[in-house]
Amino acid sequence: MIVATVISGFEREAIRELEEITKDEVKTTYFRGLLLIKSKNPREKIKKIKEDDTKFLVRAIPIDYIGNIYSEDLERYFEDIAKKSCDLLKNKSFRVRCRRRGSHSFNSVDVEREVGRTIKNISGAKVDLVRPDLIVFVEIIQDKVYVGVCREEEIFYQKGRRLKRYDERPLNRAMRKLEEVFEIYEDWIPRKRVLDIGASPGGWTKALARYAEEVIAVDSAPLKPSIVKLPNVRFIQKRAEDLRLDEIGEIDMITNDVNLLHKESAGLTLKFRDCLVGGGRIIHTTKLAIVPGTDRFPVENIDLAVNEVEDMFSKSGLNIKDVLSLRSNTKNERTILAEK
Ligand SMILES: C[S@@+](CC[C@H](N)C(=O)[O-])C[C@H]1O[C@@H](n2cnc3c(N)ncnc32)[C@H](O)[C@@H]1O
Repeated sequence: MIVATVISGFEREAIRELEEITKDEVKTTYFRGLLLIKSKNPREKIKKIKEDDTKFLVRAIPIDYIGNIYSEDLERYFEDIAKKSCDLLKNKSFRVRCRRRGSHSFNSVDVEREVGRTIKNISGAKVDLVRPDLIVFVEIIQDKVYVGVCREEEIFYQKGRRLKRYDERPLNRAMRKLEEVFEIYEDWIPRKRVLDIGASPGGWTKALARYAEEVIAVDSAPLKPSIVKLPNVRFIQKRAEDLRLDEIGEIDMITNDVNLLHKESAGLTLKFRDCLVGGGRIIHTTKLAIVPGTDRFPVENIDLAVNEVEDMFSKSGLNIKDVLSLRSNTKNERTILAEK
């Protein structure tokens, strides 16, 4: 395995380029500019990459060990990384370098310090921050850790690439909600065909289009032209109630962020349930909205609204995976994840 950082916004091009050179499968992650190259002999493949001219790759680290994060027992987790690195470190000096993506209760410096201290205690290897024999690279990607113990020359790094495809800032707050879900549930999210209900102005569609093969975006309001133009986005401008199931065919995921009363919105998600493949996924925002023409909510609070939606989903044979209160949700919103 190789952890590869590529120029953000050029992931597709980078995958093509890296697959061509390495002949290995290259996988996206839910983090921009971060790819995994599934190489069995990563050092050899990095040598090959160095011999070629890569336009989109910035950095590549060969990985010796992949593990999971035990969020309930961090000490064990740091010790685990340290133990796995020790064999390679006998009689050598070393330093630890950590890069972290996702939300955790610790930062990269904590990892460098704790793993370094534990390696020193277990193996007796010397820390050398300036000219170490080996560097322990700890790449944390949400709940997985990728560790490579190598000489500086064994990694690939090229500075100064300035290509930039799109603005790094999210298009709107709505887009941040979906990006948060991606961070937490990276492996749960399918990457083929997605139906995005209530897509305008296009934050969710834009985020989905980076990873899914095709996004069918539906809204009565227009989508931003730059998003309609994306090659894997198909925009249907109509109310979801008027969309026929045969217009979309089989899908792997439904996302719904419409600003309707919570039961109406849940009804729209359920309308497309039959298009979902078995095991298909749903990301659904439940909103406590004012009943039109009145100044009152249909139920007292957001928790009651969530209960009603969960009930509707369960009765239709969907399993609730999680109910999230995201940083980007308003106080009257929750994000429900479900599976068929
Ligand atoms: C909060 S916005 C969605 C934001 C969007 N997820 C994004 O990331 O840019 C809610 C959208 O739901 C759409 N909407 C409301 N009722 C709808 C319906 N019945 N069918 C389709 N879209 C609907 C609205 O037009 C509005 O654009």
